[in-house]
This record gives sequence, structure tokens and C-alpha cells, in this order.
Amino acid sequence: MILDKLRIKHKIGALSEKLSINVYKKIGSTNTQAKLHAAYGRCGNSVFIASEQTAGRGRLGRSFVSNKNKGLYLSILLNEKLPPELATSLTTYMAVIASRAIHSLSGAEPKIKWVNDLYLGGKKCAGILTEARASESGNALDYAVVGIGINLFSQDFPEEVKDIATTLEDECGRKVKRCDLAALIVKEFFDNLHLVGAREIAEEYKSRSFLIGERVTVIKPTVEYAATVKDITDKCELLLTLDGGKEELLSTGEVSLRLAK
Ligand code: BTN
Repeated sequence: MILDKLRIKHKIGALSEKLSINVYKKIGSTNTQAKLHAAYGRCGNSVFIASEQTAGRGRLGRSFVSNKNKGLYLSILLNEKLPPELATSLTTYMAVIASRAIHSLSGAEPKIKWVNDLYLGGKKCAGILTEARASESGNALDYAVVGIGINLFSQDFPEEVKDIATTLEDECGRKVKRCDLAALIVKEFFDNLHLVGAREIAEEYKSRSFLIGERVTVIKPTVEYAATVKDITDKCELLLTLDGGKEELLSTGEVSLRLAK
């Protein structure tokens, strides 16, 4: 089924009248498009959805495979002044909202890999990229963009990700309609926005996470080291026990984790 704007608006319901919803057959990156709209400053809260991205982006400068008609590539622009601490909380919030939506439409139960990945069957099926612009004073955000890419249908992944990526169809045998999933994510995202940063989202994030107790390699720009994940805090920080016994608290930033074999 094609990605149809009217169908998405209809499924979102009354809320869709308050949003600018933009659907593209092909675009570089929905996050980049959202940031361009924010920079012009003429739109309010908006949604950008594409059938294909030619320059899909992930965290830490990585690319995100966004094959034509094979996934949902969606960005939400909150085009208003926001508290600065919101940027990290929006990623964990989206992880919870998207996990719920995937579960409700497919029955699959994605697991969260801190901080921004959803996993099924031990492989990545979705990633989240939040980008925000700090205001000149530094006391607020001018806007935030929360982008999510979900691999929905079986596809040939490039060599470099084919062993670590999967799709919802491969894991649960269901072909979820992109319009339905997009509408549910957008509706739930805006309906629950007051819960960004709330304890109940952190608790659900933690209960959906699979890293606790796992051995991981922490990858920072200039150093890599092994650790064991002890806990996830109320602020969705990762508490590590380092080899030698010291503890370290990781918030997001320039850090990624590799599961130890
Ligand atoms: C990651 O894996 O590190 C995050 C991937 C985020 C991908 C989504 S797809 C929609 C939006 N547009 C982008 O260019 N990136 C995000």
C-alpha cells in the first residue's frame, strides 16, 4: 500500500488539523527536511514522512539504510521554544512510543538497546535520531526534530549491516501498513507529550531495555573499554560497572555501545 497523506491524516484524526503533514516519495533525509522548515520559521509542529531516503542519517554521523517502500522514515518537528534538557528525553520517549505502536499493530515486542535503537530477534529493526538547535542565549531549544526509521519489510541490506539489521516482517511475519504505523506513532507522540522526561516513561524504557546485566564495549571518540551494564536510571542514563569495580554514568552524547560476544 502506498504512503498516502489523506489516509494518514484520517487515521490521526482531529489532531492532524493542528499539524503540518508532509509526505514525500523520495527525499534526502526527513530530519534534514524538518530542520530546513524549522529554519524558515514559518511552520508549527510538523511531520515529515518519506517512502525512500537517499541520505538517511543516524547517530554519530552514521548513515541509515532507507530503501524504497521498505520501511517507515518519519520525523516530527516540535517547532517551539523547549527546555534544553528535553533533547535526550525525546529520544527515550520516542523509543517507548514506537515500541508500543509496533507491538499494538504487529504483536511483536521490540527491545530497546540504549540509547536509541529498537531490536527484534537480537538485531536492529529501528533507530532514532533527535536533533535540536539551542537558542542564542543557550537557555532553551529553538526547536527539536525526532526522527525514526523502522525497517518493516524484507529487503537486501548492504553487506556492512546485513548481519546486524532485521525487519519487522522477517521477525514476526506480519506486513504492517506504513500509514497505520505512521498515524499511530504521530498520534501517541503528541497525545502523551506531557510525559516526556516523566518517571513512568523511564520505567517503561527500562522494562523494555535488554542491556541490563550484559557485557558491553563502550565506544567513545578516542577510547574503547569493556564494562557491565548495572542499571538504567530514572533519567534513562546508563549505569556501568567498569572492570576494576568503579561505576560510571553515561548519558547520551558521543558514546555508542557494542554488545560483547
Ligand atoms: C540511528 O540508527 O542511529 C538512528 C537512525 C535514524 C533514522 C531516521 S529515518 C527518519 C529520520 N531521517 C533521517 O535521516 N534519520 C532519521
